[in-house]
This record gives sequence, structure tokens and C-alpha cells, in this order.
Amino acid sequence: GKVILAYSGGLDTSVILKYLQNEGYEVICFCANVGQDEDFEAAKQKALALGASKVYVEDLREDFLVNYIFTAVKANAIYESRYLLGTSLARPCIAKRQIEVAHLEQAAYVAHGATAKGNDQVRFGLCYYALDPNIQEIAPWRDPAFLARFKGRQDLLKYARENGIPVPSGPKPPYSMDDNMMHISYESGELEDPSVPADESIYTKTGPMDKWPDRPQVVRIHFKDGVPIKVEDAATGSVYDSPMALFEFLTQVGRKHGIGRIDIVEDRFIGLKSRGVYETPAVTILRCAHIDIEGIAMDREVMRLRDMLSPEFSKLAYNGFWFSPEMDFLVSAINKSQELIDGWVDVQCFKGSCLAIARQSPTSLYDERLASMNEVDAFTPSDAGGFIRINAIRLKAHRRILEKVGTDR
Ligand code: ARG
Ligand code: SIN
Repeated sequence: GKVILAYSGGLDTSVILKYLQNEGYEVICFCANVGQDEDFEAAKQKALALGASKVYVEDLREDFLVNYIFTAVKANAIYESRYLLGTSLARPCIAKRQIEVAHLEQAAYVAHGATAKGNDQVRFGLCYYALDPNIQEIAPWRDPAFLARFKGRQDLLKYARENGIPVPSGPKPPYSMDDNMMHISYESGELEDPSVPADESIYTKTGPMDKWPDRPQVVRIHFKDGVPIKVEDAATGSVYDSPMALFEFLTQVGRKHGIGRIDIVEDRFIGLKSRGVYETPAVTILRCAHIDIEGIAMDREVMRLRDMLSPEFSKLAYNGFWFSPEMDFLVSAINKSQELIDGWVDVQCFKGSCLAIARQSPTSLYDERLASMNEVDAFTPSDAGGFIRINAIRLKAHRRILEKVGTDR
């Protein structure tokens, strides 16, 4: 049968490509461009040379940005208080196109090179099945026959040499990376001991710490319905008003000022903890600005409810339930909450941090006259007294009970 293999051009997926052919499959390779630093033409030629019957190189960057990254920004998504979900959000975008390619090719199978210990296998699998109930997933790293043959990297290298697969020159990178336009992750290998900090040289999306400028930079981010629509560089006056252009600009600003690094131990869905280092420059700035514009434009009770949804959204995205009824439900509620989230925020970027320092909104709920202490007639002081006394009714009742039963709390 025909199989659509998510192909990266690396050693693992190249071995899988050959292996599946030797198992009798016709292999069509699918290279998703989600903005990772990669030579797609070289990957395509490599796949063809290894016998792929066809290679799809799909530019998914704008789809990833507009339909996944911006959705996460609207949700203020964050997993376990720190991870902005750069890999988690890319997987459904990739899987969706992979299934579309399977349909174009009338292929019954889709394959990926994710390991049996990770989140990615879960995300790919759940997205595949959610989008096509008849599709069959091939995951070689869970297949006993494949595992019996490839017990370690030496076996992969040996198979590569025997099968004409170009073997990577130089040593294996001492950790595993997942790169895209939103973030890069580093895990495993040298990073497995969480008590040892990552070396400064690991970082690729942020400049070296000792080069972070001594002067802050201010960027003005404009939102419409909770979505960033324009970014201005306060110093130069340059304007970026397309999704890709503004995102690229914020990526450069974040790179320069070292914004968006984290080093964490996180809980994988399958139930083990994993140490990861991440860089997410642009979305760190966007999230800061988005939370701030909500501060001025979002109703308090809408915010309270939406804030209950953010961790749920993040968990679903992390665990691979992007295409699920519960995610559809959450996203429609989150989109509703964003309908009046308009205006701009100035974000100051400086030495690894970003700080909202000013904002303005045409849909502002902030009333300078009401907030001002000097204005008396807009607000009756005695009303505030009644408000407090009424709210105190049950507090007083509780205190009386405590006194009656004699606890000293
Ligand atoms: N731990 C992160 C996540 O689950 C990053 C996964 C990185 N994936 C990879 N294939 N290296 O989202
Ligand atoms: C993998 O195991 O394939 C990468 C890590 C992860 O998916 O969590």
C-alpha cells in the first residue's frame, strides 16, 4: 500500500523511509515547512534518491501562524505555567496537511518518526484518527520488529551505510531539537540531568546573553479581536502589518533582547517527567501584550471565565486533542471573548524580559473619570459603604459561629 511519511531529511526518518520500502510499501514523503531552519530542496532530493515515489514539500507557515499560533495567543495559552506550546501547536497543523496529502494520493497509511516515550506520537495519532477515522497510523518506533532491528544509533548508522543513506557527518548533536517559526525545543541527551544548567551556547533563537543590548526597545502591538494585526517599532517608525511580517519582526526583536527562554521539567501526557529547554521569542512578547490589552478591554467576569479555560485549552493542545469536540467548544468560547479586544500595547523589551508599559483601546472599559480619586459625583461614597456592609453580612455570620464553637482561627 501507499504510505505518506512525515519526513525531516534526518537519519531516523531516512532509515524509516528505506525500511518501509523494504517492507513493501510505496513511500511518499511529506516535508512540512513550519518555519524550521532546514534545506527543504536538499531533503526532497535526498528522499527521491532513497526511492520515495514522490515528495511533497508544503509551506504551512502562514496556516500555522494564523490558525494555531494566534489561537494560542488569544487563549493566553501556557502549559504548566511556563511552556508556550511551540511543538504542541505545530503537530496538528502538520498532521492536517499530511492527511490531506493521504487523501490526494488515496493512501491508506500515514507514518511518523516520533518515539514511544513522547508526546508527539500521541498528537500525530490523535490528529490522524480525528481527521480520518479510516486512516492507519504507522509508528516504527513502536513496532516490535523495527525495535528489534534498531536497538540504538549504531544500528541506524549501520543500516544507513548498507542502504546508501547519507550518514550525517560529525557527531550526533548532544540533545534532540524541534524547530519551527514559533519556537525551538531542546531535550534529552546532555539535558537529561535537570540539576545541570544548559550551556549558554545551546540557544539559537536568542542571541548570547552578553550581547543583549543595554538599552530597552519598545514595540507597539495593535490588536483586533484579540489578534495582532500591526506592529510598530517605536524607535524607527517601521510598520509591519501582515501576520508573517509582524511575527518575523517580533522574532528578531526577541532574538536581540534574549526574550522567551525557559528551562523546565514538564509532565508528558504519557505520565513521565521530562526536562526541556525552549526559546519562544515572538510569542512571549505577543502573550505579554495580549494579556495587557485584555486588562483594559475585557469585562471582569468574562476574563474570570476565560481564565478558567486557558489551562484547559493548553492541556488539550499539549495532549494532542486539537481536533476534538471539547477543543471546538473551548475555541468558540475563547473567540467570543475576543470580540472587543482591540487597541494597542507598548511592550518594552530589555535583557530577557518584556513589560507592557502603555496601552490604548477604542473598546476600553477603563474610565479615567471613574478611576480618579478626585471626581466625587461619578461615585457616591456612601454607596461604597453599603457595598462593603452587604458583602460583610456572611463574614460576620461566620465569625460569630467561630466564636460560638470556640476555634481560634
Ligand atoms: N516537550 C515538548 C512538547 O511535548 C517538545 C517536544 C519536542 N519534540 C521533538 N520531537 N523533539 O511539546
Ligand atoms: C519524541 O519522543 O518523539 C520527541 C519528544 C516528545 O514527543 O515528547
